[in-house]
Amino acid sequence: MKTFSALLLCLAVAALSSAFVISPPHMWTKLILTHHWPRTFCSMEHCHPNLTYWTLHGLWPDKGIDCNSSWHFNASEIEDLLPEMKKSWPDLLNPTSSGFWKYEWHKHGTCAAKAESLNSQHKYFSKALELYHKVDLNSILTKFDIIPSETYYKLSQIEGVIENFYGVTPKIQCAHPSKNADVQTLGQIEICFNTDFTLLDCEKQYTGHRDKPMAVNKVTGFNVCDQDTPVYYPPPYTN
Ligand SMILES: *[C@@H]1O[C@H](CO)[C@@H](O)[C@H](O)[C@H]1NC(C)=O
Ligand SMILES: *[C@@H]1O[C@H](CO)[C@@H](O)[C@H](O)[C@H]1NC(C)=O
Ligand SMILES: *[C@@H]1O[C@H](CO)[C@@H](O)[C@H](O)[C@H]1NC(C)=O
Repeated sequence: MKTFSALLLCLAVAALSSAFVISPPHMWTKLILTHHWPRTFCSMEHCHPNLTYWTLHGLWPDKGIDCNSSWHFNASEIEDLLPEMKKSWPDLLNPTSSGFWKYEWHKHGTCAAKAESLNSQHKYFSKALELYHKVDLNSILTKFDIIPSETYYKLSQIEGVIENFYGVTPKIQCAHPSKNADVQTLGQIEICFNTDFTLLDCEKQYTGHRDKPMAVNKVTGFNVCDQDTPVYYPPPYTN
């Protein structure tokens, strides 16, 4: 009887540890490169950017938030990246502050850092910039005639360009994407990656449930754009 219990225990331990090997419970499996359109962001947050290109919002693992509160953001570690960070990953609310990067590092970077490929602030921020430039969303949209305009797009036009070019589905988010609205405003575009930084389909949430009210992302006020509502891609402010 004793031996039998011991055997069961061994089996349980073995099963548990092999489960860990196959799928570490806290490890992320997807990275989400999030771009936002400054004009739309600022219409919600009351800033006045004069930027005419999509900027980085973040590089987010699909699992984990605030994974290591004792790993403090240290701008000196990414000193060489700062000029590029200011251009491509600006804090739209406060352009002279590093607060946005600190926030993103604590919330998402410390979780991304569970992978060896991203286990330092320099690796994390430089990889985000590298992917942003590789994806080059600004050029691709322009090249295929998705340009800010006072006339509206169909969501499928924007989605189609991205899917055809990259071969993966993006997640496209709008401000006020309600089913009965006359128009929704393009705000955020996510492109997803595998752990080896190859492109991957983003999951589109809420499709198939379009008649139900959509949960609103409290942080940004963006949600997945509605398929049937015209999309406004607002031209940047010009000074
Ligand atoms: C945007 O505004 C900043 C600060 O006001 C200024 O330094 C910069 O030259 C402006 N850029 C453009 C393209 O107007
Ligand atoms: C959290 O970050 C600190 C500082 O880099 C590090 O020493 C520590 O090992 C990290 N903890 C975990 C659980 O990763
Ligand atoms: C920040 O990083 C720099 C460069 O790596 C290092 O010399 C400094 O000690 C760090 N500061 C803190 C508070 O950890």
